Amino acid sequence: MFISEEVELLSRQYTTLPFGNKKDKRIESWLNVFNDLPEIKEAKIHLTDEVTVDFRSDQDNEIEELFLQLMPWRKGPFRINDIFIDSEWDSARKWKRFQELSLDLSGKSILDVGSGNGYYAFRMLGMGANQVLCLEPNLMHVSQFTAVNHFIGTENIRMVPERLEDAGLKDTRFDLIFSMGLLYHQRNPKEHLLKLIGLLKNEGKLILETIIATEEYGLALVPEDGRYASMPNVHYVHTHRGCSSIFEELNLKLIAETDLVATNLTEQRKTKWMPFKSFESALKEEDKSVTVEGYPAPQRKFYILQKTH
Ligand SMILES: C[S@@+](CC[C@H](N)C(=O)[O-])C[C@H]1O[C@@H](n2cnc3c(N)ncnc32)[C@H](O)[C@@H]1O
Repeated sequence: MFISEEVELLSRQYTTLPFGNKKDKRIESWLNVFNDLPEIKEAKIHLTDEVTVDFRSDQDNEIEELFLQLMPWRKGPFRINDIFIDSEWDSARKWKRFQELSLDLSGKSILDVGSGNGYYAFRMLGMGANQVLCLEPNLMHVSQFTAVNHFIGTENIRMVPERLEDAGLKDTRFDLIFSMGLLYHQRNPKEHLLKLIGLLKNEGKLILETIIATEEYGLALVPEDGRYASMPNVHYVHTHRGCSSIFEELNLKLIAETDLVATNLTEQRKTKWMPFKSFESALKEEDKSVTVEGYPAPQRKFYILQKTH
């Protein structure tokens, strides 16, 4: 059984049909890509310090062409033989910051909400996690996970192409829940956190990663027109004080936190695998400490939280 009876039933719908009955004009071409990926026999897989897979192949050029058809690659990097999928984000940097908090993942059942293409889920397995359920409504990410996992072949990650609100999870309680890069996109951030708290075991932990605004904004920066650092749909960027006040209100105890880290062009940039606008067009040309909208440039932080009862 995968995590719980409820998760088994939900996720099983997508194990052979990754997009279920979703409608999207790109699905047919993605399915063709999956069909054209070669079957492999033995692979050497590394998930601890990176996500890599090595196997005997004389088709690397063809595989690279197929993976390029799944662009844009926002999260990664992944290496498949000599093919280096250099994604827009060097997600290993965020994962290193999380690892500095020394949270034990071994044997844990995990929910990763807004998982992207599963890069972090693979790294969670690399830290000994038992099973990871990824919720990711963006089908492009689902296509990338399916292609990478064609070679990695783990059955301990399942990705469901649904939003948290639509996944219908009710009875399952997870050891750990990750919400990374979601809080500032929420119209109702407290409701998002409450929903996550409801899916945690009593001793479970919530790992929240988000952008933090400078203290001059009081509890939160509310971007005009919902645009911040060129990102749409940003409703609230909380300050540390704003986050602390929500945690107190929701009876969440702060277990650990990282320092604030400013996003830079080493961590987020355009690449061959994501050739569109990236972080370089999020900041003002003449002053890189300010976003194009005139707000302080993004700084990010991890919090590890636990319910108090
Ligand atoms: C800014 S990205 C962060 C991705 C990844 N967690 C990371 O930290 O790099 C937010 C992701 O959450 C997904 N997302 C947005 N709303 C969601 C929701 N209601 N439920 C689940 N995922 C959601 C988006 O499709 C997107 O992939």
